[in-house]
Amino acid sequence: MTVKEIFETMEYGDAPESAAEALRWLVDNGSRFGHFIGGQTTEVGTTFESRNPATGEVLAHISQASQADVDLAVAAAKAAQKKWEKIGGKARAKYLYALARLVQKHARLFSVLESLDNGKPIREARDADIPLVARHFYYHAGMAQLMDEELPDRAPLGVCGQIIPWNFPLLMLAWKIAPAIAMGNTVVLKPAEYTPLTALLFAQICTEAGLPKGVVNIVTGDGAVGEMIVAHNDIDKIAFTGSTAVGRRIRQATAGSGKSLTLELGGKSPYVVFEDADIDSAIEGLVDAIFFNQGQVCCAGSRLLVQESIAEDFHNRLIARMAKLRIGNPLDKSIDVGAIVDPAQLSRITQMIETSAQSGKVHQPVAAPEGCFYPPTLITGLHGSDSLMQEEIFGPVLVSTTFRTQAEAVQVANNTRFGLAASVWTENINLALDIAPKLAAGVVWVNGANMFDAAAGFGGLRESGFGREGGWEGLQAYTKPIVKGKAVKAPKAFDKPQVLEVEGLDRTAKMYIGGKQARPDSGYSKGVYSSKGKLLGHVGIGSRKDIRNAVEAARGAAGWAKASAHLRAQILYYIGENLSARSDEFAARIQAMTGTTAGKAVQEVTDAIETLFTFAAWCDKLDGAAKPVPMRGVALAMNESLGVIGAFCDDRPLAGLVEVIAPAIAMGNRVVAVASDAYQLAATDFYQVLDTSDLPAGVVNIITGPHDALAETMAGHMDIDAVWSFSSSDISKHIEFESASNLKRTWVNNGMDRGYSARDWLAQSVEVKTVWVPYGE
Ligand code: NAI
Repeated sequence: MTVKEIFETMEYGDAPESAAEALRWLVDNGSRFGHFIGGQTTEVGTTFESRNPATGEVLAHISQASQADVDLAVAAAKAAQKKWEKIGGKARAKYLYALARLVQKHARLFSVLESLDNGKPIREARDADIPLVARHFYYHAGMAQLMDEELPDRAPLGVCGQIIPWNFPLLMLAWKIAPAIAMGNTVVLKPAEYTPLTALLFAQICTEAGLPKGVVNIVTGDGAVGEMIVAHNDIDKIAFTGSTAVGRRIRQATAGSGKSLTLELGGKSPYVVFEDADIDSAIEGLVDAIFFNQGQVCCAGSRLLVQESIAEDFHNRLIARMAKLRIGNPLDKSIDVGAIVDPAQLSRITQMIETSAQSGKVHQPVAAPEGCFYPPTLITGLHGSDSLMQEEIFGPVLVSTTFRTQAEAVQVANNTRFGLAASVWTENINLALDIAPKLAAGVVWVNGANMFDAAAGFGGLRESGFGREGGWEGLQAYTKPIVKGKAVKAPKAFDKPQVLEVEGLDRTAKMYIGGKQARPDSGYSKGVYSSKGKLLGHVGIGSRKDIRNAVEAARGAAGWAKASAHLRAQILYYIGENLSARSDEFAARIQAMTGTTAGKAVQEVTDAIETLFTFAAWCDKLDGAAKPVPMRGVALAMNESLGVIGAFCDDRPLAGLVEVIAPAIAMGNRVVAVASDAYQLAATDFYQVLDTSDLPAGVVNIITGPHDALAETMAGHMDIDAVWSFSSSDISKHIEFESASNLKRTWVNNGMDRGYSARDWLAQSVEVKTVWVPYGE
């Protein structure tokens, strides 16, 4: 072709990146890999193949870890951990910095190897994945440097088991390993079976950086190896990124084990385009949102919501743009869409579209080449409840729907089980910043998509999982408070007759639901006695129906989240003041029920009042942040309420109740609190304080009843966003297991009282939403 002809057609020529160096690296390693355990490469065991999805050729033979390999890796991590912790943050920082530098030094090799193994365009591996990997190690080198001064009351968790997916193999490794080792943990990481190669190259740079043996251990294999890591007794924390189905299984498998858990799961993220958006930019953004990495992105903008007035034009322009996408050889530097990671994923995508797209119209303006490729696809005309509108496709497939009003846009956007990310396109800053907080998502991009940075938190809510990666908030996942816990003892209430009695309900202290006193649905109550056997009153025995009613009332009080922090503070102060006016009465009640001394009873009331005042003070002081991300723009970290929190209180009859209510409502949540298992009367008295304190109905609901009987209903309830338990009853495992239903957050004591700080309570009471607001050129 002559230069003149090239100018006339404007066709792209080939711009191949050489694979030679990466292939040489494979050959140099015998194309057969063992695990990386305790600083050594192990003998190659039973192997499976890692293939280049674009060509089908076998790249290497990878060892499938056995239980013995996993045991060895965990033992190496455990042996290394204390020393790694003790050398201090500043010494650790040097290693992280060295890793960052080495990633940069080997950036080209990493990029090509990633592209070969995963099928992603070299342009993306080179310009997005690998620079973000280096950035993550730099950023967390800084966090290690600052840890001793800035986080003096936090300690590492111990050994972290980390299981990662195949869509961003090295980037997910960096997101997991960098914060973990910065904070003094050691790790056993398992890359996905389709894409282990860059993790194995990373193991070599750990050696090159002189990282102490056992700090990073890498074992390869399939889901069975993941299960071994999850089940291992010497692992203190599991961090998982992958499918919601596996995330749910891990939640159940770790229930009651005391392991910390963070889950980064799937999504069906809305991409909302208003009629006043800059349409050309919105289309370019959309190409990035859904065709980047062949759509195999957990936060892909896979659901287009476009305002009806511009929908036809927008679709036409989008289809025209899609027709220009280049799909093919991932190592060609001007390729837009590469290969799907594996034929199994390709057939999954193909089947989903073939079986479920009938009610819509499928647009595929550019054909895919032979092999493991899928064409960029737009599907219009589907119904909101169609499976393709609800399920994660994890391929280059966009589904589209329309909306008329802003309220409808929010409602349709939030019509999903997931809550990972969202994009909003409008030239109206007021509209963007009005919509962003209303979207159920952990990350919102204003006039953008797929922006990531180590300084900005990333993570989801609902069935997209819990926990954040990146930023200060991400360190929560790899540290714990230093305080030593003490075992919770279950006190025994004084209960003379020992039998449940059917009582004249008028004498029963009622539960408190939706701002009203409520009789227990069961119709049963039980007597509460003093140490001398005197009947102090009766309390209702709550059942699942009472919990459901309370949740409904709490859902109905959603306006509380929108109330200003100033108003919430005033109401909390008022509750404190009203409790203070009745101190004597409450102290007498506590003393009679528990048999404690008068002094201790008074102290408990004083503690409860202090707690109310403290969280009243915090209402308008838990600042968000503007993260200094490397772009013209900011990433705002906004503290949002979780929604409805179900809480089981400890056995301080009043202070235990107030301790859960105060931080939760200070941050705009609504609460369904189950009073102390042993002593319920002070909680039932407390509604009178609430009633006189201007607290809107439904914000706090108080149930009485046996914790073990109510735990399952609370943890399994689909309209509860988080469950806490400080109960003396052994319900932690139950709660964690049942929470897998909608993957709600849990915070349970596992039988230990840890005396959390106000900061800890606040962190558990908010969800950090990152809102990216680009500006300038
Ligand atoms: P997956 O969730 O099965 O795999 C992710 C990782 O978990 C891999 O390392 C795998 O070996 C491991 N794993 C699998 N089963 C496990 C178990 N029982 N216990 C512990 N670890 C286990 O994802 P898969 O099957 O590769 O992809 C299926 C679908 O999952 C995709 O089509 C996509 O919809 C979704 N997915 C979502 C990702 C995300 O980032 N949100 C990433 C990968 C997949």
